[in-house]
Amino acid sequence: MTGPQRIKMNEQAEQIALMLTDARAATLRLFDLAAERDLRESPGFGYRPVIWHLAHIGVFESYWLLQKVQGLPAPDSDYERVFDPIKTPREESKNLPTRREMETYLRRVREGALECLERFDFDSDDPLLGGGYVFRLVLEHERQHQETLAYLFRLLDPSKKTRPDTTETEAPRVAAVSTPARDVILVPGGAFEMGATRDSFAYDNERPARAVNVPAFRIARVPVTNEEYARFIAEGGYERREFWTEEGWQWKEKEGWACPLYWRRDGAGGWVERRMFEEGTIGPDHPVECVSWYEAEAYARFAGKRLPTEAEWEKAASWDGARKRRYAWGDDEPTDALCNFDLRRWGTTPVGGFDAGASSCGCLDMSGNVWEWTSTPFGGFPGFEPFPYPEYSEVWFDGDHRVLKGGSWATHASVLRTSFRNFFRRHFRIAFAGIRLVEDI
Ligand code: AVJ
Ligand code: FE
Repeated sequence: MTGPQRIKMNEQAEQIALMLTDARAATLRLFDLAAERDLRESPGFGYRPVIWHLAHIGVFESYWLLQKVQGLPAPDSDYERVFDPIKTPREESKNLPTRREMETYLRRVREGALECLERFDFDSDDPLLGGGYVFRLVLEHERQHQETLAYLFRLLDPSKKTRPDTTETEAPRVAAVSTPARDVILVPGGAFEMGATRDSFAYDNERPARAVNVPAFRIARVPVTNEEYARFIAEGGYERREFWTEEGWQWKEKEGWACPLYWRRDGAGGWVERRMFEEGTIGPDHPVECVSWYEAEAYARFAGKRLPTEAEWEKAASWDGARKRRYAWGDDEPTDALCNFDLRRWGTTPVGGFDAGASSCGCLDMSGNVWEWTSTPFGGFPGFEPFPYPEYSEVWFDGDHRVLKGGSWATHASVLRTSFRNFFRRHFRIAFAGIRLVEDI
């Protein structure tokens, strides 16, 4: 190998080592939000104890970087079983090791991961290795679990959590400099490039990219606000059968839904909501969040509109008429001036607060703030091939999951790309997911 290539390889490895360190520090900071005893119990609704995710992150790293890439034995076969979501179902996730024990395990795995990195062949023809794919897989896995952790932490009573001291790193408050228009934008018909087009990391479900023709439609500039959603409730949204599909109505009845997950009546005709660290009056101009797909759909029917298809959403977010943007605003990496992401603000920001983050057609909040439900069932693009394991995507092509796009206030930059496809079951309410509406021409 020639000199310059060698240097380039080391640079890649160093960059990955830094990203691994940053990701782990962020994970551990999350576990400082609450006392360990509160993390050892299920936070409710049959979810696994929060602490389960800590060791799970390590087991995933070990599986790919120690076992698969280096052919090493699993460092701990008990961990391998207990922290594999398929081998140990939710209800059996009990009597877990302590945080201290888990951290010892994580450090052992990380040593092996760094050894793997030192000798890594970034130029390999093996698609798992080439360009460091397997490291990005491990990194994005950890980053996604951080958002899962944020959902689970949100379930815990605020009295059990301490707001981290982030005075130095805190993102600037979004100044209410402008009141964005809440109008609808015409997206002209025609083909656009759907999916991951470039050669940077993408999941199997984002590929292969292809040209998709999308007839003209109108899309809301901003997501549905709390104030708008409160009007839906006030007008009998949860009681009027005509807004709901049969299945949606059944779920609503069974679970007793009458408002978004964290809302509660304030006793004076208004609403308060439980946020991450406190309870407070709902922000009227913040996007509604923590609603199921069924509620999003019912709201759309109430409004006389509909949810976007995944293709409509992605076109409005990423297509500039000639090429595809990685993020709504372009290809520059996310910053606090462009969007609300990465747990920098611990909650939503008023809709349309980031002019600089507008998509080409003028949509605001397409990257960050809240995930947006689409009408599209999660499935493979034409020519889909499971890679590198079917349990990431393929096993969830079950007709129940719907695609969500855009990322939320808890999503890390590495997961904010416009081609990223999130997916949850239709009745799932704990995700930071909201609503954007479209209408036919
Ligand atoms: C893509 C967010 C739905 O949390 O189940 C984590 C990501 N896959 N570990 C999930 C994932 C394996 C996944 N979501
Ligand atoms: Fe996982």
